[in-house]
Amino acid sequence: MSDIEQLEKDLLAKIGAADTGAALEEVRVAALGKKGVVSERMKTLGKMSPEERKEMGPALNGLKTRIADAIETKKTELEAAALDARLASEKVDVTLPVRPEPKGKIHPVSQVTEEIIAIFSAMGFDVAEGPDIEDDFHNFTALNFPPDHPAREMHDTFFFEPKEDGERMVLRTHTSPVQIRTMMNEKPPIRIIIPGRTFRCDSDQTHTPMFHQVEGLVIDKETHMGHLKGTLQAFVKTFFELDDVKTRFRPHFFPFTEPSAEMDVQYERVGNEVRFGQGDKWMEILGCGMVHPNVLRNCGLDPDEYQGFAFGMGVDRLAMLKYGIPDLRDFFAADARWLEHYGFDAADQPSLWAGLSK
Ligand code: DAH
Repeated sequence: MSDIEQLEKDLLAKIGAADTGAALEEVRVAALGKKGVVSERMKTLGKMSPEERKEMGPALNGLKTRIADAIETKKTELEAAALDARLASEKVDVTLPVRPEPKGKIHPVSQVTEEIIAIFSAMGFDVAEGPDIEDDFHNFTALNFPPDHPAREMHDTFFFEPKEDGERMVLRTHTSPVQIRTMMNEKPPIRIIIPGRTFRCDSDQTHTPMFHQVEGLVIDKETHMGHLKGTLQAFVKTFFELDDVKTRFRPHFFPFTEPSAEMDVQYERVGNEVRFGQGDKWMEILGCGMVHPNVLRNCGLDPDEYQGFAFGMGVDRLAMLKYGIPDLRDFFAADARWLEHYGFDAADQPSLWAGLSK
């Protein structure tokens, strides 16, 4: 065997044995690099006699080409093998559930609050919040409750011990004080909903000392009762996920609205179940009205320039009605079995496009 054949055999063996890109590169440099064995041999051509060169030239060129080809082929093989290995190790089974066993459930109050927010957000309402502990001014006075008016007692208010100046702070009895805070701090147009905890000294199957409301407030220059009715009608239809539902507005009294109304929704009772959108019974579901001029004035707004409407609803009651939950007290009993039964999956985020409750 000529020494060129021997060299080729050795180099091909090394190429064959290279099992990584880096190892192959080492072989390439050692053979074809500037100081590589094949390159060194090529340099010797210059010193040869013409006859010798005639013979050795094609032989060395052939060697160089075959080695370069072998390296290239091996490189492609190694790359393909590396890709296969990576695909095998990074394999993802897309049919596996994201969380095989999700633990915990979303409370119906949180879910229904999110549903209500989704509906009003789509209508362009922002979410506003305020403190649970309120002063008398925001909870009552600014909302046009006259001093010593029985409504203050009607709310079964939890009062704190009087402060040094005699003022008694309260646990807010409704979310309406956040209307006042917003109107005093923001310039109209205002379009907000106010979800939050509220407190009254009361407890039975449909009342708990702590419960939840969502308040709504719209203030603009040409707001009227038609806007109020249209907004709430659209809300009820979307919330109860009905194609059609009748509502009616019954005159009522609230100190902070004039005129005031309660909104009733058409329903029917089938066995133990309440079905909305059918039948000829009426169920009261929220209070509403046009913001009283005194309330606007108390917040520094001119009633001749601005009008608005407001509404307030009980979230817990809406959750009971929509999801057929019989006793309100269970909502706050922290019973994991109850939550397992009535709760919602964390992935079921209410939205208008994916469905509120699916
Ligand atoms: N604040 C009232 C309550 O707790 C509910 C309510 C009724 C709020 C009418 C409003 C409204 O904004 O306009 O009983």
